[in-house]
Amino acid sequence: MAEFRLPKNSRVSKGKHYPAATNAKRTKTVQVYRWDPDAGENPRTDTFEIDLDQCGPMVLDAIIKIKNEIDPSLTFRRSCREGICGSCAMNINGTNTLACTKSLAELKGDIKIYPLPHLPVIKDLVPDMSHFYAQYASIKPWMQTQSPARPDEERLQSVADRKQIDGLYECILCACCSTSCPSYWWNGDRYLGPAILLQSYRWIIDSRDEATGERLDDLEDPFKLYRCHTIMNCTNTCPKHLNPAKAIAEIKKMLLERRGA
Ligand code: SF4
Ligand code: SF4
Ligand code: FES
Repeated sequence: MAEFRLPKNSRVSKGKHYPAATNAKRTKTVQVYRWDPDAGENPRTDTFEIDLDQCGPMVLDAIIKIKNEIDPSLTFRRSCREGICGSCAMNINGTNTLACTKSLAELKGDIKIYPLPHLPVIKDLVPDMSHFYAQYASIKPWMQTQSPARPDEERLQSVADRKQIDGLYECILCACCSTSCPSYWWNGDRYLGPAILLQSYRWIIDSRDEATGERLDDLEDPFKLYRCHTIMNCTNTCPKHLNPAKAIAEIKKMLLERRGA
């Protein structure tokens, strides 16, 4: 993992307050975590009053409005605005979710926005994902085969086999689940966490993949897999409504069956 500068202390102080225009009729107060390592200051939360009649319907719209019209230094990731790329994952009112699919209307009271928890912060709402991506690469997330491909045909699978990867292939690697998992918070250096384990199961269960044994061997490890204690935060928070905890349980079951238990 890259080396990071950290704030002098982790206390988050109250920052600047930006009131809405005096003619705004419907407003929403949004508090946003701010931290710029280059400024040499401790983290703060800035408060922005947003005119809802001049803003799109989603939390990401409010964040983009703040950057475009109030404070261009606000830093965050986003790309698709459709819940597909996973880049706008952040903690909104205490829950890890996607800012682009979270509607402002469904959030009562003030909105509090922080970066995904328990990851080093690069700036404002941007966490460092390099360890998460290295863990993803470690599971070899591609189809592995030994048998030669047929010259004029794709590697086919039955309709029933294809169904096995439903609920898995939809994962967008947003990391909402892993960063909500207490086991990942404390052992994330060695525990792979729910997102990467769900991705691993996606290849284990794919009938076309020919490295199932090696993949299971690799997970037979006290930390990589068995730090999951079925706390279920992962499944409760997944914005794509997937079930990483079930995928982890399926891997554990396969390992037990393999041992003949
Ligand atoms: S399982 Fe859900 S929460 Fe976890 S990375 Fe995939 S899409 Fe995001
Ligand atoms: S079920 Fe496992 S992976 Fe999911 S939150 Fe709990 S410990 Fe973490
Ligand atoms: S911007 Fe792509 S998931 Fe939100």
